Amino acid sequence: MGSILYICICNAVTEREVYAAIDAGATTVKALNRQLGVGAECGACVGCAKACLSNKQTATTSPSQHIFPIAQQDIGMTLR
Ligand code: FES
Repeated sequence: MGSILYICICNAVTEREVYAAIDAGATTVKALNRQLGVGAECGACVGCAKACLSNKQTATTSPSQHIFPIAQQDIGMTLR
């Protein structure tokens, strides 16, 4: 089983969902917030969301360097 990387723990938003939203036209954290709920709770993920946006724009570094490296099985017990 592959791991799923979460950008937003509070809303269980994955890296894949964030990049899909960016590919669909999201260009700001506010847009990611409206579409996915990123940053709507504790705000700890805002920096990671910004890094994803920046990485997508520059496409020079790995986005996984900036996100929470938590596997799905690790977080499954802490989510609602
Ligand atoms: S980690 Fe995204 S709002 Fe808390």
